[in-house]
Amino acid sequence: MASLTTTDLTRVALDLVGMDELPGDSAVYVEGTGLSRVMMGIDIAAAELMLARQLGLDGVIAHHPAGGDAHLHYPRVLTTQIDFLINAGVPADVAEEAIRPKIRGAELTAQTRNFDHVPSVARLLGMPFLNVHLPLDEYGRRVMVAAVDEHLGTVRPNREPLVRDVVAGLMTIPELRDARTDIKVAVGEADSPAGQVFVFHGAGTNGGFAAARAMWDAGIDTVVYIHIAPPDADQLRALNRAGKNVVISGHISSDMIGINRYVADLEQRGLEVVRMSGL
Ligand SMILES: [Fe+2]
Ligand SMILES: [Fe+2]
Repeated sequence: MASLTTTDLTRVALDLVGMDELPGDSAVYVEGTGLSRVMMGIDIAAAELMLARQLGLDGVIAHHPAGGDAHLHYPRVLTTQIDFLINAGVPADVAEEAIRPKIRGAELTAQTRNFDHVPSVARLLGMPFLNVHLPLDEYGRRVMVAAVDEHLGTVRPNREPLVRDVVAGLMTIPELRDARTDIKVAVGEADSPAGQVFVFHGAGTNGGFAAARAMWDAGIDTVVYIHIAPPDADQLRALNRAGKNVVISGHISSDMIGINRYVADLEQRGLEVVRMSGL
């Protein structure tokens, strides 16, 4: 039987992508040792912590930030979006201008939150509790990039890849192929050329309208997000930019790419993981 610590659980996630320390959107809320049976869910709140106690489990892992430092420091991970845009060919000052308002907004949101609500429940229960967000999404991003690249590589010798080929590439990933949600071409057309493709995932959240427009302006033709707010999709559509596309892979199915790998690694260490909330 496994006997792991909360530090072990974070280490497994960090090792998955070669990170040294927990990013701003991930945190250990209640430390613990001697863990052998834990519960993992995408979203964990007070009721789920009580459920874990009722099931006799000795720890809980969330994917999404659940309070504490992961809420307070969340805006820091959004700077990754600036790096993404620069990697997509957006000039540094334009990238900064596109993302800075979003970071300022996130800082105000963080300030409004009752960030200790859920962690306080875990503390009173004496329930070891953590969340790992960015490391698992970064793993998922790498898988998505590789799947799209590989599939477009098989299409290219015969014809120009289309947006539907980007979708087909994503569909080679089991979590997306077997998902109950469809991959959507939210902006653009499935039959237009894919052109330059950029997978924008693993940066706190999607880049919304501003990041997609900046990428389009910089020569990216097809942006892949895992989700987008409907008004942002409407705004992008209203730009009427011929040949420009946004593909949406699906939130929970895409989150599951990293989560499944993480759970497999934990189980390999002998940990029993009870899956819930999207797993
Ligand atoms: Fe995620
Ligand atoms: Fe998510």
